[in-house]
Amino acid sequence: MTQKNQYKLNVNGQTVEVTAESRELLIYTLREKLNITGPHIGCETSHCGACTVTIDGKSVKSCTMFVAQAEGKEITTIEGLGGPDALHPLQEAFKEHHGLQCGYCTPGMITRATKLLEEIPNPTEEEIRFGMAGNICRCTGYQNIVKSIKAAAAEINAAKEAAQ
Ligand code: FES
Ligand code: FES
Repeated sequence: MTQKNQYKLNVNGQTVEVTAESRELLIYTLREKLNITGPHIGCETSHCGACTVTIDGKSVKSCTMFVAQAEGKEITTIEGLGGPDALHPLQEAFKEHHGLQCGYCTPGMITRATKLLEEIPNPTEEEIRFGMAGNICRCTGYQNIVKSIKAAAAEINAAKEAAQ
């Protein structure tokens, strides 16, 4: 019989408990146990970035982490960034600038982009392309993804200036 354990996770500001095998991949825990279906499963081999979440302030591909490794850490998924009533500036910009086609890569793209803009608040096109290199869009809509991230950066920076 396979042994299962209890794990306490902090997801999008809430503490939740799950029962899982320690080797269960975090992406499956999120999607199948917690019904957090924003992060997608693409390759399961750390190549595509569809499963990207933020863990303790860093972008992480959740298909590369076991649930046991995520215990006690702060996990943020696309659901934790904003919702239909209050979109995150990146969600708004992807919508405005057609930064998505089928949308499969979008939750991972946006979640990664939040960290990129924290690391580099006013990135050049080259810095965006480099910073987003771990996220693949099978629809190849990269031009508008870059445009969306630039627009969101401008929006976030303007809001910061207005608040000073
Ligand atoms: S599903 Fe995790 S990187 Fe592709
Ligand atoms: S919008 Fe289809 S994979 Fe990126």
